[in-house]
Amino acid sequence: MTDIETLEQETLQSIAAADSEASLEALRLGVLGRQGTITQRLRGMGALDPDERKSVATALNRAKDAISQALRQRRDELEEAALDRQMQAEWLDITLPARPNRTGSVHPVSQTMDEVAAIFADMGFGVAEGPQIETDWHNFDALNIPPDHPARQEHDTFFIRMESDGGSQPNVLRTHTSPVQVRTMQERGAPLYIVAPGRVYRCDYDQTHTPMFHQTEGLAIDRDITMANLKWVLEEFCRAYFEVDAVELRFRASHFPFTEPSAEVDLRCSWQDGQLKVGEGDDWMEIIGCGMVHPRVLEAGRIDPSVYQGFAFGIGIDRLAMLKYGIPDLRAFYESDVRWLRHYSFEPLDIPTLHGGLSR
Ligand code: DAH
Repeated sequence: MTDIETLEQETLQSIAAADSEASLEALRLGVLGRQGTITQRLRGMGALDPDERKSVATALNRAKDAISQALRQRRDELEEAALDRQMQAEWLDITLPARPNRTGSVHPVSQTMDEVAAIFADMGFGVAEGPQIETDWHNFDALNIPPDHPARQEHDTFFIRMESDGGSQPNVLRTHTSPVQVRTMQERGAPLYIVAPGRVYRCDYDQTHTPMFHQTEGLAIDRDITMANLKWVLEEFCRAYFEVDAVELRFRASHFPFTEPSAEVDLRCSWQDGQLKVGEGDDWMEIIGCGMVHPRVLEAGRIDPSVYQGFAFGIGIDRLAMLKYGIPDLRAFYESDVRWLRHYSFEPLDIPTLHGGLSR
C-alpha cells in the first residue's frame, strides 16, 4: 500500500469513529485544511517529475474525494442521531389519561344546581335562563314591585349604568331569578313549566351573605293549577333532594309582591353536633319562598290571568348546598381554597340524575 493509500485508510477509520461534529471538523482541517496533510502534498507536487506527478495527483485527488464524501456522510449520520435523541427526550404521549391530581372538579354549588334541575326535569319542568344584568323593569316593576315599594330598598341592589343606553335606562345586577319568570312567559306563553337556575347579586357580606349567590326559580302556569300542586311539587322535591322519605314541610304565610297568597317553606330538621338531620327533631329551617303567581305578573308576561294561573317558588341554592353537604360558612364557597375544593367538590363525570343517584 502506498503512503497515500495508508493516509486515506487511516483518515476514513477516524471519520467513522468520530462521535461529534467538532471532532469531524478537526479531522477535516488536519487533512484538507490549509495546513492539512493532503493539501500540503498537493502543494509540493511541483517538485516531482512529470510522470510521477501524474500518478501522485490521481492518487491524492482520489483520496481527497473519498475523504470529503466520508466526512459529509458521517456529518449527516451525526445530525440524524442528534435529532433522534431530541425526539426521544421531547416525546409526549398525548393519549395518556390525565393525572388524577390534575383533574378539575365540580363545585358544590354547581352540583346542587344540577341536582335541583335534575329533580324538576323528572317532574316535567324545563330549564330557562335570563341575563344577569337586568332591566329595572324586569327585576322589579314587572314583578309588581313599583318604584316606591319597600322591597326595592330591602334588596340592596347594585345599579349599573351602561355605555350603550347612554346611561338613561337604569339597569341592575338582578337581585333574584324571578325576572326570568316574566321573560319566559313573554317568550313562550302558557302553559309553562320551568326552573331557572342562576347567579343573583345583592350588596351584602357576612357569614351567611355574599354579594353574589345562587337561586333556582320555579314557575308552573296552566289552566287549573292550585296551591295543592305547589305543595306536592315542593314536598317531592325535598324528598328527592335530601334523599330522605320522611321529610316534613311547614308552609308559613308570608308576603312577596309577585305572589298572592305567598308562603315561606320551613323544613323540619335537627342539629346534633353540627350534623344536620332532615325529617326529625324540633328545628325548622327556612328554605323556599313561594306562592300563587300574582295576576299583575301574568299580565306583565302577556298571559291572560282570567284563563291561566300558576305557582312560583324561589330556592336559595347556596343554603341548600350548605345543608346537604354540611358546609358551615357560606364565604368559603367563593374563596377558591384548593384544599376546601378538594374536600367538598364532586367528580366531573358523575352527572346527577334521579335514576343514577344525585350525589355519590
Ligand atoms: N324572589 C324571592 C327572593 O329572592 C324568592 C321568591 C319568593 C321567588 C317567592 C318566588 C316566589 O318565585 O314565589 O327572595
